[in-house]
Amino acid sequence: MGTPDTADAEARLAQIRAATDVAEVRHLYDDWAATYEDVDVAGLMGHPDAARMADVVTAIVGPGADVLDAACGTGLVGAELAARGFTSIDGLDLSPGMIRRARRRRVYHDLGPADLRHGVPGASGKFDAVTCRGGFAPGHLGPAALTGFARVVCVGGVVVAAVDDATWAAEGYAEAVDRLREQGLVRPVEGADPGLLVLEVRGDVTAARSVPWRP
Ligand SMILES: C[S@@+](CC[C@H](N)C(=O)[O-])C[C@H]1O[C@@H](n2cnc3c(N)ncnc32)[C@H](O)[C@@H]1O
Repeated sequence: MGTPDTADAEARLAQIRAATDVAEVRHLYDDWAATYEDVDVAGLMGHPDAARMADVVTAIVGPGADVLDAACGTGLVGAELAARGFTSIDGLDLSPGMIRRARRRRVYHDLGPADLRHGVPGASGKFDAVTCRGGFAPGHLGPAALTGFARVVCVGGVVVAAVDDATWAAEGYAEAVDRLREQGLVRPVEGADPGLLVLEVRGDVTAARSVPWRP
């Protein structure tokens, strides 16, 4: 049987899955921010832990890289990257409440709000790596967001995203990745951990548009 904290997290995730619009999701995460870290929520969702994601990114691009942590939440991935020597980490998230928590860690350079279903703010090819843990899930982001992530990664850089098997199968991730691969825009990196999608960016992803930073 789970703990009361786990039961609370499961109930909140069920509410998020059932949310009918993004404002409701934002509100639910704002409301959760203060207690979010009582449980490893993304772990509960079936995603690799933040330390493992940071190890994978470190092995591929090294700590000198410019990283965007997409759907950064309270900053668990950013903290693990910083612990490995990364100094250029930006974060974007839908929820101002979650971002406020992330800001307190003092490991992110730029942090801001964004609905990443509509693309990623900022210049193309700006980052060496985009990480996303806990962002690809029902009620959150779908596979279309991969295009926006790839757009802001430079050629030779990577998108490292956690997607659990059930979500992968139900929401058309394989097809989205195939489309990007067939256009010569990305190459899926073989041998990634279970539940981890690693895409090397191979070409200019102009199909995705940039969106302005919102205050
Ligand atoms: C399960 S949490 C994961 C947070 C963090 N990456 C971690 O490892 O704990 C999911 C995050 O996705 C964010 N999110 C949900 N929908 C989003 C959207 N449309 N655009 C940007 N972020 C979104 C939420 O605000 C929340 O912080």
